[in-house]
Amino acid sequence: MAQAAMERPPGTAADWTIPQNWTGYTAREHAVWDLLYARQTAMLQDRACDAFRRGVEHLRLSDKGIPNFEELSERLAKLTGWRVVAVPGLVPDKVFFEHLANRRFVAGRFIRKPEQLDYLQEPDVFHDLFGHVPLLSDPVFADYMQAYGEGGLKALRRGALEKLARLYWYTVEFGLIAEPGGLRLYGAGILSSFGESRFALDDTSPNRLKFDLMRVMRTRYRIDDYQQSYFVIDNFDQLLHQTRDADFTPLYRQLETLPDLAPDAVIASDGIVSRGSQKHAYRGKFQ
Ligand code: PHE
Ligand code: FE
Repeated sequence: MAQAAMERPPGTAADWTIPQNWTGYTAREHAVWDLLYARQTAMLQDRACDAFRRGVEHLRLSDKGIPNFEELSERLAKLTGWRVVAVPGLVPDKVFFEHLANRRFVAGRFIRKPEQLDYLQEPDVFHDLFGHVPLLSDPVFADYMQAYGEGGLKALRRGALEKLARLYWYTVEFGLIAEPGGLRLYGAGILSSFGESRFALDDTSPNRLKFDLMRVMRTRYRIDDYQQSYFVIDNFDQLLHQTRDADFTPLYRQLETLPDLAPDAVIASDGIVSRGSQKHAYRGKFQ
């Protein structure tokens, strides 16, 4: 995750990385990981996409404490050339994109407190590692993330970051994928959330719509609650080819002429997988 203008905290390198200081974690912190890992693995049975499950296995993520970034990076680099580096928290957009473009995924080193298992404002090491890193072991998704980093640097120069950020949000963070066995999760924001991993697939409240690049880049999103719409891809090849292999410059120009869409909008051109009641979003509002 990234942010616009910030000052680099003391003790961080020029690229904003810090040592993970793995030996500095307490037993209590490792125990939080173990608890989240066990709970989420059980929840994700039959919910996570295939590539995620394979990633967890190949990278040997486990309920044996917070992973050591160096050891994890060695395994990941052998599969797709990606590495995981620690940062103190949010980093500036340009720094974030430069890391992605060079196949480095930035992760927070801190872990949430036992009393914040279900909700926290800043991504922690459980979200960043458990949510994001398994998919980086998939060769096609790995290429998508690198291309996104390059695309981010370009969007910054074009002043189009707000539109491109929606693509990250509705794919990397909150994406669904249609697999032969049914809809599955691949977005890290869902995969690391106990509540949303059930809600995104099973609840009748949100819309589930076929992924469409321009449609997604027009759609605002909420950061304060579960999503009101999820976008469904057919496979990672589709995602990679529609993004990496397209020149976004004319698309950004066109987007300037098109109105943004609300998080719960459904429009005539949408491919509707399931239309939501939005009951969750409006709960309590009319009582
Ligand atoms: N191809 C896009 C462009 O021309 C860059 C991009 C790649 C964006 C992958 C998102 C994901 O800007
Ligand atoms: Fe994330």
